[in-house]
Amino acid sequence: MCGIVGYIGARSAPDVVMGGLKKLEYRGYDSAGVAVLKNGRFSIRRNSGKLHYLEETLRERPLSGHIAIGHTRWATHGAPTEANAHPHMSMNGRIVVVHNGIVENFIPLRDELQAEGVVFQSDTDTEVIVQLVERYVEAGEGLETAVRYTIAQLKGASAIVVVSRDNPNVMYCARLGNAGGIAIGLGEDEIFLASDIPAILEYTRDMIFLENRQMARLERDGCHVTDLEGVPMAVETHRIAWDPVSAAKGEYKHFMQKEIFDQPRAIIDTIGGRVDFENGTVSLPEMNLTPELVGNIKKLIIIACGTSYYSGLVGKVMIESIARLPTEVVYASEFRYADPIVDEETAVLTITQSGETADTLAAAELAKSRGATMWTIVNALGSQSMRLSHGHISMHAGPEIGVASTKAFTTSLVDQYMLACVLGQMRGTVTPEQGRELVAGLAQLPDLVGQALEQDEAYAALASRFYKTENFLYLGRGANYPVAREGALKLKEISYIHAEGYPAGEMKHGPIALIDETMPVFAVVTQDHLYDKMISQVRQAKARGGVVIAVATAGDEVIGGEVDYVVTVPLAPPLLAPVVNVIPMQLFAYHVAVRRGADVDQPRNLAKSVTVE
Ligand code: M6R
Repeated sequence: MCGIVGYIGARSAPDVVMGGLKKLEYRGYDSAGVAVLKNGRFSIRRNSGKLHYLEETLRERPLSGHIAIGHTRWATHGAPTEANAHPHMSMNGRIVVVHNGIVENFIPLRDELQAEGVVFQSDTDTEVIVQLVERYVEAGEGLETAVRYTIAQLKGASAIVVVSRDNPNVMYCARLGNAGGIAIGLGEDEIFLASDIPAILEYTRDMIFLENRQMARLERDGCHVTDLEGVPMAVETHRIAWDPVSAAKGEYKHFMQKEIFDQPRAIIDTIGGRVDFENGTVSLPEMNLTPELVGNIKKLIIIACGTSYYSGLVGKVMIESIARLPTEVVYASEFRYADPIVDEETAVLTITQSGETADTLAAAELAKSRGATMWTIVNALGSQSMRLSHGHISMHAGPEIGVASTKAFTTSLVDQYMLACVLGQMRGTVTPEQGRELVAGLAQLPDLVGQALEQDEAYAALASRFYKTENFLYLGRGANYPVAREGALKLKEISYIHAEGYPAGEMKHGPIALIDETMPVFAVVTQDHLYDKMISQVRQAKARGGVVIAVATAGDEVIGGEVDYVVTVPLAPPLLAPVVNVIPMQLFAYHVAVRRGADVDQPRNLAKSVTVE
């Protein structure tokens, strides 16, 4: 994830921006930069590495001025060098941009601009934005139109800030998808913007949060928000409380809600710096994989608990399908007391958000003592799980405070997909062409998740219909079977509603006896090779008087005639579809819990990190 800060006003703009960036450094720290506009000229300072290098540069070569933007970067495209650090400036020095997100189609856009004679200064996807804005301005468009035309060409989720030397008192920002928010802080004859409110909270409590597909023109005396076609939008100004907990929740009522909506950003960070979209390869250096090591491994065992276990069930499908490595998934609490068949030819992958779950650590110690190569996918860096492992992949989810795990689930799925790609590369099961196709799916993912989140009102409406129901059956098949189990777990833990997650094909072997009008069925019926099978299982439920809610692919014209309620998700590549399909499950459970008046972030009897047996 990257951090963005901007300021226009009487204060020293570089100081405001640097102070804000310090509070956002947790979002990325492989390079940083600041641009100031003064006397019709941009001055830029950029450094690779942590923010303190930029601070040193600014001490040696200070900047002054009253309009500035800054950025702290977590690399997605291009190495963490000074040349790739933001802000980026257009070829003729007219426009400066900072950006958070992924421009999925940057390769064709860059090729088009290069063919027109634009010389690129960096390897980033961001640079196409600044060069496109300049192209439109040079063609005679006003800055606002140029920004709008540029955004219309971008695919993927992005947050963008643009400044032009021709418009010295104005800043434009836009949000496209859910790459992370933009908070606009309103002051007295001054204005601020930042990726997250703590960066600017010391100056103002009055904030506007830009929604997806909105852009804003910022001037000292206020801001004007429009949609991407330029139609003015009415926006609400939120008064942010000073206490740190409320401030951390920002515009959201609960941490769980915030964390659900944080997923596109979290996924971008998880992918960041690890994927070469042009060559179709993935690299995971912290896994310490060598050809000898990978060549020696004959099977993989995934060990985890709760949501992390369900994530592992999806990971098995990904790893077996892409890397053809036999994989089993075992509950840590079972593994630790079994007599597991583990040796030097076994790799064991633990998945754990906290890195401190007692069962998972005990199982890992047992596997390690039997000679396994130990890997972990973990969110809490420096945790015990990392210390026990030979290699790790960080989830990059950021702090997950709600007890119900959400973004750790989706980011760990992305990590396993990337691991599958790396193992596939090394085991020779993935051709370069297939590699390019696999990583192209990753580039789309933040935007697809963002599109699913946009259906929030539909999930809230569904929750208002079902919040008094006491039993639910969740069904899915293939990679979506674990999604059904995760959906049921979410409902159980925060709403205290009994829910079972089942592989749909198993329904006829028992659970079908439960189905009547009081036990609704929540089924994942998205477009994949098992679609027809899911339709026939939905019909079996309907034939027994069941009420069926389907998570279906947008545009499916058949499903409405088969079930009682439909919520839609965008079509995703089959192995990545669980990342998108779980969103309705998370939001449905969240809204049901809110309706029932439950304590969403701290449900009864549970703990975020289960460090006891
Ligand atoms: O920190 P971990 O991923 O090891 O935690 C595992 C489970 O305790 C955790 O996923 C739990 O099931 C969550 N409450 C699920 O929302």
